Amino acid sequence: MIGAAPSPPSHDVTATAPTPMIELRGVRKEFPGPTGTPVVAVDGVSLRVAAGELLCLIGTSGCGKTTTMKMINRLVEPSDGEIRVDGRDIRERDPTVLRRGIGYVIQKGGLFPHLSVAGNVGLLCRLEGWERARIEARVAELLQLVNLAQELATRYPRELSGGQRQRVGVARALALDPPLVLMDEPFGALDPITRRQLHAELRQLQDRVGKTIVLVTHDLGEAFALGDRVALMDRGRIVQLGTEADFRERPATPFVEEFVREHVRGSGA
Ligand SMILES: Nc1ncnc2c1ncn2[C@@H]1O[C@H](COP(=O)(O)OP(=O)(O)O)[C@@H](O)[C@H]1O
Ligand SMILES: [Mg+2]
Repeated sequence: MIGAAPSPPSHDVTATAPTPMIELRGVRKEFPGPTGTPVVAVDGVSLRVAAGELLCLIGTSGCGKTTTMKMINRLVEPSDGEIRVDGRDIRERDPTVLRRGIGYVIQKGGLFPHLSVAGNVGLLCRLEGWERARIEARVAELLQLVNLAQELATRYPRELSGGQRQRVGVARALALDPPLVLMDEPFGALDPITRRQLHAELRQLQDRVGKTIVLVTHDLGEAFALGDRVALMDRGRIVQLGTEADFRERPATPFVEEFVREHVRGSGA
């Protein structure tokens, strides 16, 4: 178990556990479809993520991972169901205030090209009205946290490698020290060596900062390497939620068994 000491082992999150950091109950999302028939992106998802836990959401493209994630920070509003963050129904929260407590990292870092590294990392602090010296100190601290040299602060995103851009994206998401961080395929665009390096760094970072993290990936090797638990989605539903051992030894359905077999073969593991 990574992070906050009082949390229970991640595979033992039961009804008697302390308030989960995130709880989804029967969450559903329909989008208006092109032909008038609604597209069901998320179809009755329920899950709990304990404080300090790293949960990986995995599944093939279009299975509803991003939509599930975006409902947690209210970038997308559910059509039905309930979402609680730190015990509170997020519908009762001001979306801006809610998002201040939720870091968000998207693929390729999602950096603003016209802002320097320091500008990107310190963005949320500026929006919060922090004084300049405090922002500079925080930016320096964050660059160090994600293993970026201080000299990079004045560079622009186009002057960075993919791995460096990704680290900047992580630093930016951590700027206001949110207890919860959502990461949507953060390592998807990177080469395998950089990926493995960033995996190791994320685990170290998680040991130090103890955040609750939901990380979306379509790579089962990545999910097993990083997640305390893994939730496999298929067509808007969670088909299995458990540890690597659960997936390997106790696949819930033939689909899960096949998914694991395909990925194990595909990754050469
Ligand atoms: N804003 C939207 N409007 C209409 N359909 C959407 C929208 N966002 C996602 N979808 C659809 O919902 C389904 C799930 O998408 P998404 O959550 O992005 O999947 P994933 O992240 O797993 O690839 C897909 O069929 C997608 O086309
Ligand atoms: Mg997605």
